[in-house]
Amino acid sequence: MSLIETARKVRENAYAPYSHFKVGAAVKAASGAVYGGCNVENVAYPEGTCAEAGAIAAMIAAGDTRITEVAVIADCPKPVSPCGGCRQKIAEFADGDVVVTLATTSGVIQTTTVAALLPDGFDQDHMRDA
Ligand code: THU
Repeated sequence: MSLIETARKVRENAYAPYSHFKVGAAVKAASGAVYGGCNVENVAYPEGTCAEAGAIAAMIAAGDTRITEVAVIADCPKPVSPCGGCRQKIAEFADGDVVVTLATTSGVIQTTTVAALLPDGFDQDHMRDA
């Protein structure tokens, strides 16, 4: 199954009763294992979590630490794009040239990279001598 198909399947489990915007994400790790996540909303709105965060949490919980590929899918007019916080979360575990596939459920697909999604992001180099 392609990474986007995994994301599509996980999206079905999204808990989004407030936004009604279901998102699925999948990350492939350096081990070859694939981890999925979906958004999980909460009546206290800021407590909701994004699909990408769920996939990354599953990866870390399983013992993988490096992402080699990312896919995100939602039912929207143009390919869904990770929020700023998720771009930072992805960048923590992926090199800049890692490919990110963004898709709509109707089949529109766009590919980009981690570096293109988060140019000049805050990283560990900014922490030296702090
Ligand atoms: N959402 C994600 O899970 N990932 C994205 O890339 C964009 C937004 C979620 C957060 C919230 O549950 C809903 O979509 C509407 O913003």
